[in-house]
Amino acid sequence: MEKGRAIVDVRGLTKIYRGRKGPLSALQDLSFQGRGGEVLGILGPNGSGKTTTIKSIATLIEFDAGEVSVMGVDVKKQPRKARSYLGAVLEGARNVYWRLTPWEHLLFFAGLRGLMPGEILERAKDLLDSLGLAEVSHKQVRFFSKGMQQKVAVACAFITKPPVVLLDEPTLGLDVETARKMRSWILETARDEGTFVLITSHDMKFIESVCHRVLVLKEGRVLREGTPESLRNLFSQKVYRIVLEEDPQEWLLTLLQPFPGFRIERDERGDSLLFSLKDPSELYKVFALLQSAGLTLRSLDILSDDFEEIFLDILKDGGCPEPTVRREG
Ligand SMILES: Nc1ncnc2c1ncn2[C@@H]1O[C@H](COP(=O)(O)OP(=O)(O)OP(=O)(O)O)[C@@H](O)[C@H]1O
Ligand SMILES: [Mg+2]
Repeated sequence: MEKGRAIVDVRGLTKIYRGRKGPLSALQDLSFQGRGGEVLGILGPNGSGKTTTIKSIATLIEFDAGEVSVMGVDVKKQPRKARSYLGAVLEGARNVYWRLTPWEHLLFFAGLRGLMPGEILERAKDLLDSLGLAEVSHKQVRFFSKGMQQKVAVACAFITKPPVVLLDEPTLGLDVETARKMRSWILETARDEGTFVLITSHDMKFIESVCHRVLVLKEGRVLREGTPESLRNLFSQKVYRIVLEEDPQEWLLTLLQPFPGFRIERDERGDSLLFSLKDPSELYKVFALLQSAGLTLRSLDILSDDFEEIFLDILKDGGCPEPTVRREG
């Protein structure tokens, strides 16, 4: 999505945690840009570096290499100024103050940015309504469920109309209806106010429904990047490996070439023919060609993509079940 200019610019971000067990490379040369009006999702299994990315942008940790800027401001050189452009919900952290009401939270966070109550009145009402907090806006949040507290944290992140909002696992503890309301708020705000919203989540459904673009992280690197749709398509196709008794002739390889993702892998067992097919019935055509060439099939395997492994990992961690996600082969 080329909706606006890059207002978050991450280049070569590298973070090494140095613990007692030795150095741990949490992010390796991570680069991406975020534009105004865009909602960007980060998906990845536990420990893939999602929170580390958010914390680096939010100036909460020092990174080892690379550059990060927010609205053109280098977060290392001018952390205070960079922070002034950010709203954030941080993972697991106490994002809310127990003895304050949602209303007081909004006044407090606006006050930190020098805004008077009159200036945020309308937006506060809008936020509380949109997130379903209007009825409890004068109750202390210590009486709230986790999900309700999370909603207050999200409201605080948006109250001052920051150009950049970072949300680390914002749907944690939210029911479906609330997640839906939050999604509408995020999408409308990004669109109407040109906000760049960066969201990490294990909830694939949420990410899919709210993000224009998704980065899939694995071990601190970007494994895949694309629209949710392109990633889903990628996921819905399977890689088939066919091993033959005899080596195929050149003419046959030419005939197989048009099949999607066709390639040959050579190892000590001989040649394997690989195809990534969306529609398994395409295999019949492949078999027919092999048969007409008089070749004998030794084995057929369905390989899982690295990407699929990540989704299975995410699902194991308790993400939303996604009906199209199934292990085969
Ligand atoms: N303060 C720390 N000290 C040492 N290692 C850390 C620290 N914080 C994170 N790590 C390690 O860095 C890696 C990335 O962690 P990070 O929290 O960014 O992952 P994540 O993708 O947010 O995971 P999750 O899905 O569990 O929230 C992990 O291997 C983690 O153990
Ligand atoms: Mg995390």
